Amino acid sequence: MLTRLDKILSQSGKLSRKEARRAVKEGRVSVNGVIAESAEQKIERESAVILLDGEEICTSKYRYFVMNKPKGYVSATEDEREQTVLELMSTHERRLGLFPAGRLDKDTTGLLILTNDGGFAHKMLSPKNRVPKLYLAETDENIDDSDIAAFKEGITLRDGAETLPAELRRVGDRLCEIEICEGKYHQVKRMIASRGKKVLSLKRLKIGELMLPESLREGQYKEALRDELFRLCLKSMHDEQ
Ligand code: URA
Repeated sequence: MLTRLDKILSQSGKLSRKEARRAVKEGRVSVNGVIAESAEQKIERESAVILLDGEEICTSKYRYFVMNKPKGYVSATEDEREQTVLELMSTHERRLGLFPAGRLDKDTTGLLILTNDGGFAHKMLSPKNRVPKLYLAETDENIDDSDIAAFKEGITLRDGAETLPAELRRVGDRLCEIEICEGKYHQVKRMIASRGKKVLSLKRLKIGELMLPESLREGQYKEALRDELFRLCLKSMHDEQ
């Protein structure tokens, strides 16, 4: 499919549509080694090499970022009262139409994926795909063997909702890892609460096989490759991609 040059330039996040048209007029854009003459020129975006001021721009329509979410930010694109995870990103990236693929509570930290690919987000979040998510929780009391056994069976939450079986492991003093394959509202906190214990802090470590990169400090993020994310997050569905 062919796409207009100014659209590709603006979807790269580097320029607005108007700035893109101006950059072409000023001769600052080349397509496959030739200075572009028209912003309306139509291009096969996935195979084209486009340079802006001599630097290659990303021509993909869909973009993927992994973030180490800090406390105090809501997993939303906008909010009247709270700071959102999008506010941690640069103006360039905010132009891309990104949204968080899945939510972490305001006080939860760790791995969050931001993308503008609705299809990917849907696959990752769809309960039928059962993508596992791994959390590290600090609790007010140590979890015991009966908690581990109850998680293995699936928990009945205090409102009567049933969860799927989940894995619970002790990893330190009042520290445990929990792996769940669904995303009910406050699920980990409510599962622990149903055992009469309280989560004091919660961090997401992994989605599918995608680990939170050690290089990312809280509040930092980096771009990820589509193929890598599909392979790691949607491993079991990989053959369908
Ligand atoms: N479970 C929770 O309780 N909170 C989160 O942020 C994620 C999973």
